[in-house]
Amino acid sequence: MKVADSVAFVTGANRGLGSAFVEALLERGAARVYAGTRPGHPVSDDPRVVTIPLDVTDAALVTAAAERCGDVEILINNAGIMRLDPLIAAETDEAARDEMEVNFFGTLRLCRAFAPVLARNGGGAIVNVLSVASWIAPVASGGYGASKAAAWSLTNAVRLELHEQGTLVTAVHAGFIDTEMVTRVRAPKVSPQDVVAQTLDGIERGEVEILADDESRRVKEALPRDHAELYPPLQAIWDGRRRR
Ligand SMILES: NC(=O)c1ccc[n+]([C@@H]2O[C@H](COP(=O)([O-])OP(=O)(O)OC[C@H]3O[C@@H](n4cnc5c(N)ncnc54)[C@H](OP(=O)(O)O)[C@@H]3O)[C@@H](O)[C@H]2O)c1
Repeated sequence: MKVADSVAFVTGANRGLGSAFVEALLERGAARVYAGTRPGHPVSDDPRVVTIPLDVTDAALVTAAAERCGDVEILINNAGIMRLDPLIAAETDEAARDEMEVNFFGTLRLCRAFAPVLARNGGGAIVNVLSVASWIAPVASGGYGASKAAAWSLTNAVRLELHEQGTLVTAVHAGFIDTEMVTRVRAPKVSPQDVVAQTLDGIERGEVEILADDESRRVKEALPRDHAELYPPLQAIWDGRRRR
């Protein structure tokens, strides 16, 4: 899948990783970039950027976007939310439902709406922005982890389902990325530009999984030993926090 001269659609394109995707696609010579944003968000003055009103939880807007953007070859499912709510301590299901609605069902809605578009345009690619939280539960934001784990499974299933039409379906995993989503986090963060560069290089090579930082590589490698290696340190941090 070549990025130069391609037509891409980015969800959550107005800030964070999404705006880095828009910039990099333009730098690499994309012919057009559809920037899916919630209303009122300007994205770019570049004439190749077309802003499309999009809330990924709104089925009518998703359908309208797929109908309007019939030349899309690369779909980047980037829009996402993280509410900082543990699962048991939360008073309601609201945060977990919101995260599932955006991160899982939003991604599914976009994949389903654009699959026929990609098929008509030669197969193309779907990029789903996931997380290290797809593999290791973030206790302080349990619903986020569940939604990213679900979206990881979705990504693998959609890849199998769309194989016949020649669509590359790629998962992107990272630990912390330096965006507004994690402004309160004091930990090493990879830059959005770095994640985007690795992702676009990866889809050009036909890769189905991008591990975009040391943390995602460390966690994926340790998954067979997760209960021995990955969860005990998290438990210690969580227990220490609860005692304070
Ligand atoms: N930052 C990290 O540490 C990190 C790590 C791994 C993975 N990720 C993933 O990377 C992706 C991008 O996140 P980010 O770090 O760039 O976060 P961000 O700075 O908070 O940006 C989130 C983007 O998603 C959009 N969005 C949220 N809900 C939406 C909805 N219902 N419909 C359409 N757009 C919606 C936001 O639009 P508004 O401006 O309208 O709110 C914004 O453009 C997410 O999928 C996130 O889970 C982030």
